[in-house]
Amino acid sequence: MSHVATYLTDLAPGSGRRTPPRSRLRTDAPELSLDGEWDFRWSAAGEPDGEWGTLPVPAHWVLHGLRDGAAPYGRPQYTNVQFPFPIDPPHVPDENPVGDYRRTFDRPDWDTATVLLRLDGVESVYRVALNGTEVGVGKGSRLVQEFDVTDLLVPGPNELTVRVHQWSSMSYVEDQDQWWLPGIFRSVTLLSRPRDGLDDVWLRTGYSDGRGSVDPEITGTFPVTVSIPELGVERRFDAASDVTTVDVGPVEPWTAETPRLYDATVSSPGETVSLRLGFRTVAIEGERFLVNGRPVTFRGMNRHETHPERGRVFAEQARADLLRMKRHNVNAVRTSHYPPHHRVLELCDELGFWVVLENDLETHGFEFVGWRGNPSDDPAWEDVYLDRIARTVERDKNHACVVMWSLGNEAGTGRNLAATAHWVHRRDPERPVHYEGDHTAAYTDVYSRMYPSPAEVAAICADSGEVPGLSAVETQRVRARPFVMCEYAHAMGNGPGALDTYDAQADASPRHHGGFIWEWRDHGILTRTADGTPYYAYGGDFGEVVHDGNFVMDGMVLPDDTPTPGLAEFAAVSAPVVVVARPGSLEITNRYHSVDTAHLRFVAVVEDDGVMREETELAVPSVPAGESATVALPAWKPAPDAETWVTVRAELAADAPWAARGHVVSHAQFAVAQPARPSRPPQQVRRADTAGDAEFDEHTGRLRRLFGLDVDGPRLELWRAPTDNDRGIANDSADRRSSESRWRERGLDRLVHRVVSVDPHGPVVRVRVGAANSARTVDVTYRWTVADEVALQAEIVPSPDWDCTWPRVGVRFDLPPQLRHATWFGTGPRESYPDSTRAALVGRFAADLDELNVRYSRPQETGHRAGLRTVEIGDDTGVRLRLRTVSGPAGRRPGFTLAAHTPHELDRARHPHELPPPTRTHLFVDDAVHGLGSAACGVEVAPEHSLWPGARAFGMVFEAP
Ligand code: GAL
Repeated sequence: MSHVATYLTDLAPGSGRRTPPRSRLRTDAPELSLDGEWDFRWSAAGEPDGEWGTLPVPAHWVLHGLRDGAAPYGRPQYTNVQFPFPIDPPHVPDENPVGDYRRTFDRPDWDTATVLLRLDGVESVYRVALNGTEVGVGKGSRLVQEFDVTDLLVPGPNELTVRVHQWSSMSYVEDQDQWWLPGIFRSVTLLSRPRDGLDDVWLRTGYSDGRGSVDPEITGTFPVTVSIPELGVERRFDAASDVTTVDVGPVEPWTAETPRLYDATVSSPGETVSLRLGFRTVAIEGERFLVNGRPVTFRGMNRHETHPERGRVFAEQARADLLRMKRHNVNAVRTSHYPPHHRVLELCDELGFWVVLENDLETHGFEFVGWRGNPSDDPAWEDVYLDRIARTVERDKNHACVVMWSLGNEAGTGRNLAATAHWVHRRDPERPVHYEGDHTAAYTDVYSRMYPSPAEVAAICADSGEVPGLSAVETQRVRARPFVMCEYAHAMGNGPGALDTYDAQADASPRHHGGFIWEWRDHGILTRTADGTPYYAYGGDFGEVVHDGNFVMDGMVLPDDTPTPGLAEFAAVSAPVVVVARPGSLEITNRYHSVDTAHLRFVAVVEDDGVMREETELAVPSVPAGESATVALPAWKPAPDAETWVTVRAELAADAPWAARGHVVSHAQFAVAQPARPSRPPQQVRRADTAGDAEFDEHTGRLRRLFGLDVDGPRLELWRAPTDNDRGIANDSADRRSSESRWRERGLDRLVHRVVSVDPHGPVVRVRVGAANSARTVDVTYRWTVADEVALQAEIVPSPDWDCTWPRVGVRFDLPPQLRHATWFGTGPRESYPDSTRAALVGRFAADLDELNVRYSRPQETGHRAGLRTVEIGDDTGVRLRLRTVSGPAGRRPGFTLAAHTPHELDRARHPHELPPPTRTHLFVDDAVHGLGSAACGVEVAPEHSLWPGARAFGMVFEAP
């Protein structure tokens, strides 16, 4: 006989005194929280038999006491698709960590019919016993489970034990891309179920033509009264058979923009539960997904439960995160890839998000065996699938925010998924069913794709031609459904690019209902090196046997809560009100689902060379949802000797629950006039090394001193520390290679320089640049003119045989390390790249090195700001150097980066703390940079944003401060 408990490998969804799933309700029935410090003992394999210690509930045992990359009870492990154990379903290895939990509590003095024990989340499989008698086995890590413990309770102290196993057959259906984090990570509660109470309540709400309705489904003891005091509704039903739909009269509808909730109670003779009702109706009509009869466009985020110290334990950070989403124009959340803590749904009801609620189900690792044995198509697993979807839907069915159910993620396809879809259709016919893996829309209601290329999206939204990979019949079927991108624009590291392309596609097609960025936050885990340096760990940092590195750091928010430039770009692109400003006119398009623009004020700010001239509130009529308006703008005069820019902001006219009055929802900019400023070639040319302002090395022609500063440069730079996107193989890549591998093959990371000639007049320095064992060259001429100013023109001529893009093309100067501060007139405030420019505005900004560069969890390219006019670089004593760019053809100007590390140093470090102490500040003046793309999981940089080698010249002028 096997020594392994059968429940570890059987395919039952759980056993024992499990009670049927039901809504999570606020009740007046007493409850006893069993959270707190429990006795705990652990074993890496087999039964724990050592000393008891303690562990808090809720917590993950691998994060408790985590230090120097290890915890007393094992370590976190990160894999994306891979199973961290042999693929041998339904078996798991004997090396299966087990945690024994134990606590006592006094039987509460409840006059009650039944007592339930509720466990909100335990990863992965657990067996519960009360006073030594088995209560049952719980499965479904992110799913609530209640057990009936009524007749096991004894007066006085009771001992509750929970044995939790990290791996089980269920791990095969919980293969989501995240850390494996075992333990009781959500609350444990004892619930009194009163005599004559309510077993379950579902108040289905509806909204139509200004009126609300409630369609109650109630199980429990009648008579039952439903009250909505604010609406004057009080309806008593004497028996279940009496229950009918209640017309509640005129109401304000619930939407993600107007999250209007009404307090309601439902009372039986023995219990009262309270709910917060939002009135709304969800429907699919043809290819349109509608709420309250109006189409919805998801500008959403995939949200995992993750916290750097607590893991998936719910933290109040959730609220701050949702508020941050609101402030960044996020209107929707997909609960990837399991039901979140129940509070998250309450918050989404209250703050206003369209929610796609996903089942706890993923079998992605079966891809490695060609989907052989995939539980999704094996009848032996059907009960598990049906159990999971029922527990998902039943718990959260009352939430207005939930507008769609998702069957799970990346579980292939098969009969069990079709069965779960069928179950949802029967149980909740109103809310559509989503599942991306149903590639032919055979059993789901919306057509969903992840990481489609813009070309694929165009094909899906077209009315003729083929959709790649689908037959004519399938094409027609998917085109008859609303289209959503359940994941797109992989936010790993610096990126993603092309958000504006996807946004424009969603605007252009009535079939397209937007999408959900992958993903909201990095999952970094806060730990320390042996010498105590804190850092955010990712895959491989805990010595995992198999892992997927930093693929878990792919969020719009860094582990320390810092929003990335990608999030700012998302906010700009996803503005609910699109403002197009041009001389003389302002066009406003309202992309809200249903609110008009009366809550916004429109302000025009006029700046000359980034210096504020005036700020005017514009008279803009309220624009209804879905409509546009054009209003005249005053004719501002250009400043005689400056660039004049007008920025129009749409900002909140009054405080909102998620942002203060003045918060900018949308912006646009235009130049009033670009005065043709003659570039000023110095009149009087002197020998450089006698000028005093600039000293050059007579052999290399390199700058040694500039205005008394120790400076080294220029040096051609083509390399950038590869971004995660540069390292990824795009799904539309022709040769299945990453940009990084092509760049390294061509030696862009190891270029060497040879001075060809130095003409001291100027000086004019010619340098040839190339890489070992390559005949490809770049000839650079640095043409200096030193007079009142120190001017440099760089001319760059590559040999014709270059066959890959370049990450950048620019020059680098090394400055004293004390120069840490920049004030510039150019684009800002954040970094921008050719395919991520919408958040950048032209203006005057100031920042120091730490703000200029993003501390991505794996160091990589950061900090480029395009379109530089002037920058002043200083130390603590003030400005020490001033640089002005010379505008090139069509007014184009180089951008700049100021950094404490070279691209080569960034490239070598796996974490920020591994970077060497800075010895110089590096100033890069880049004539062009390559775009970002989304190749870490998605598409290549678009051709128009790719940097191909070519001859170019650009100029800059240094001025004494
Ligand atoms: C998807 C998956 C996500 C995540 C993402 C890449 O395939 O659904 O869970 O793995 O790719 O980060």
